[in-house]
Amino acid sequence: MALNRTEDLQERKEKIMEGGGQKRIDKQHQSGKMTARERIGLLMDKGSFVEIDAFVKHRCNLFGMEQQEAPGEGVVTGYGTVNGRLVYVFAQDFTVLGGSLGEMHAKKICKVLDMALKVGAPVVGINDSGGARIQEGVDALSGYGQIFYRNTIASGVIPQISVIMGPCAGGAVYSPALTDFIFMVDKTSQMFITGPQVIKTVTGEEVSAEDLGGAMTHNSISGVAHFMSADEKQCIEDIKTLLSFLPSNNMESAPVFECTDDVNRMEEALNDIVPDNPNKPYDMKEVISLIVDNGAFFEVQPYYAQNMITGFARLNGRSIGIIANQPKVLAGCLDINASDKGARFIRTCDAFNIPVLNLVDVPGFLPGTNQEYGGIIRHGAKMLYAYSETTVPKVTLVTRKAYGGAYLAMCSKDLGADVVLAWPSAEIAVMGPEGAANIIFRKDIQDSDDPAATRQEKIQDYKDKFANPYVAASRGFVDDVIVPSTTRQRLISAYDMLAGKRETRPAKKHGNLPV
Ligand code: HXC
Repeated sequence: MALNRTEDLQERKEKIMEGGGQKRIDKQHQSGKMTARERIGLLMDKGSFVEIDAFVKHRCNLFGMEQQEAPGEGVVTGYGTVNGRLVYVFAQDFTVLGGSLGEMHAKKICKVLDMALKVGAPVVGINDSGGARIQEGVDALSGYGQIFYRNTIASGVIPQISVIMGPCAGGAVYSPALTDFIFMVDKTSQMFITGPQVIKTVTGEEVSAEDLGGAMTHNSISGVAHFMSADEKQCIEDIKTLLSFLPSNNMESAPVFECTDDVNRMEEALNDIVPDNPNKPYDMKEVISLIVDNGAFFEVQPYYAQNMITGFARLNGRSIGIIANQPKVLAGCLDINASDKGARFIRTCDAFNIPVLNLVDVPGFLPGTNQEYGGIIRHGAKMLYAYSETTVPKVTLVTRKAYGGAYLAMCSKDLGADVVLAWPSAEIAVMGPEGAANIIFRKDIQDSDDPAATRQEKIQDYKDKFANPYVAASRGFVDDVIVPSTTRQRLISAYDMLAGKRETRPAKKHGNLPV
């Protein structure tokens, strides 16, 4: 008996829902991965997902593709809500032709990007794919090009979040790289331009796929990824947390949450957290957790350039982006990787109207030929550029060292900090006392009967004069020197005061960020 139209529709949809079939779904599960639909189901609020383009089909008729069914064209696309807010999503379906990307698969992704841009909502893209669909040749390449173009046009307008939950190889890696954040899952996701086989053929180098492009590699060595999750479930929770700190687009502010932490909370522990010995480290993450709402800090790139800490937190329920030196790692020096990490995060915050908090304990830029040959000049310049172009509220707190160019690069008053606070332990000077004494008192030290004693005397002299916040405060470079225990209250008050900040820049096509 012929099916009626509704039954026919139902049957068609059921077939699409099956993706590449049970055998391939089982294989996906056995390798610790969920299917595209399961991932979307976990991400979106229950019952909120609306699928679009489920009936799209490929048009390839080469290499037997004319016989090949590809339910959903290997990618599930649509929109729904995450914690009540509209979010667009695409999830590549590895069970269908390995999630490979052909002309129509790309068109589905482009439609989602276009819609998200028009309505001003974030896009979450879940990547699990063998890359360009080989049978489609240049049509597949064109598809990637169209996605890259849209990723770029949408950059700075809507948050774009890439999730790697399987292979992501060849030029395919460049779509995630053009987005704001990349999540990877430990052991089951990989990104590389050329895989182990090609590397072996071309350079003779032998490397496993995991070592080459696994989650830890890109989180700790290359800095390509921002987050690493233990499994897919955790990853999806992490994505929801990240979304909670972000606005839906560049014309909005991030959502404000009810603050359950005392805004006037005094933290006596902060009064003693900086050791008397200036060469002794302490953990800046402890400072952060004592200041922010409920001690909750969502760190971005926690494994990369650990001398620089970046991440989101809330003060009085409002999102802030924190950029902080970590005295525990490389004494908190700025180096190439820390500068790249910091500058990128500052620009992300500025693009999405998230005020920044700069916690400063920086002895300078890391010296050495590695750094100079690697271009620390152009990389360090990114910090100066990023802070100078940023127009969101900028608050700087100097906890201890703030020396030289690195003092400026951590958002001094001159780079547009709206409020600069310092603890009494702050040392704001052109360089550290030892280095300064060696240069300006070199002759006195050399000519002295007791050079060692004279050197110590001169170091002490320089310390007494400059190793404090009061010289900078006397010039107005520091707005106030505060008791550390009052920090939370003072920061909340500063951001309240800055809530209506408006600052514009001269009209231009775009700036020329040093890269
Ligand atoms: C078409 C593909 C495919 C591809 C996988 N499949 N990749 N089909 N085009 N690129 C199909 C397989 O034929 C297979 O079909 C199914 O997907 C699952 O693949 P398996 O190999 O069985 O899975 P697995 O063993 O898990 O290996 C996954 C893999 C491997 C490592 C991704 O499939 C692989 O190496 N694929 C090719 C990767 C690649 O070279 N891509 C092109 C990169 S160039 P059946 O029917 O058996 O289930 C590129 C350029 C982009 O992407 C440039 C953009 C600018």
